[in-house]
Amino acid sequence: MSLPEETILKELGISPVWKLKSIARTGDVGNSNTEVLQLTDRRAHIMRMDWNELKQAILTCTACNLHKSRTRGVVGVGDEKAEWLIVGEAPGADEDAQGEPFVGQAGKLLDAMLAAIGLRRGENVYIANVLKSRPPGNRNPAPEEVAACLPYLERQIQLIQPKLILALGRFAVQSLLNTEEAISRLRGRVHQYQGIPLVVTYHPAYLLRNLPDKAKAWEDLCLARETMASLKS
Ligand code: URA
Repeated sequence: MSLPEETILKELGISPVWKLKSIARTGDVGNSNTEVLQLTDRRAHIMRMDWNELKQAILTCTACNLHKSRTRGVVGVGDEKAEWLIVGEAPGADEDAQGEPFVGQAGKLLDAMLAAIGLRRGENVYIANVLKSRPPGNRNPAPEEVAACLPYLERQIQLIQPKLILALGRFAVQSLLNTEEAISRLRGRVHQYQGIPLVVTYHPAYLLRNLPDKAKAWEDLCLARETMASLKS
């Protein structure tokens, strides 16, 4: 990063900007021998951010290579005091262009899934992704990208304090539950993320290709709805 840009970030109150050591030297992120500089300090710094700081940090993040190909960082959308938090994987092309999660085909299905349990985007619902920047060609997130981005989601969860998290697809589920278990083995019961009930289901993009599993997703949504109801009774 050039000095003037760093100065601008400072003026915006979003400094310090943490980087992997090798970026400054080579611009190459994700090497197995990349030494992580102050990773825990960076996480601790993110954990102290308020909403504005967090949004700016996400929009200007350069912690992994994805910033080079993304159009913009995608923070999340909805009610910042929502009881429902929906977590997906990463922005796709439409989300990268519009700056909002789940606005493409998968988003249409997600909206229909939410409507089926009486929810609407933005009304007591917040939608976020594990990755805030689009992986090129919609490839799977790389482990170092998840590691770099997860603190943003963790801070969003702290700020929102949702009553229930609905995790969509392998990357959201495995990142939040810190497991490598398959969705098929995790769904059908209520998990906990730091004391918050978490329900697992298939990603809408997967459901668009695997129609028979929509019935299972419907069961998962019912479990989420019942769990929320039980929290309020
Ligand atoms: N898939 C996701 O996981 N998130 C989006 O925002 C869009 C598609």
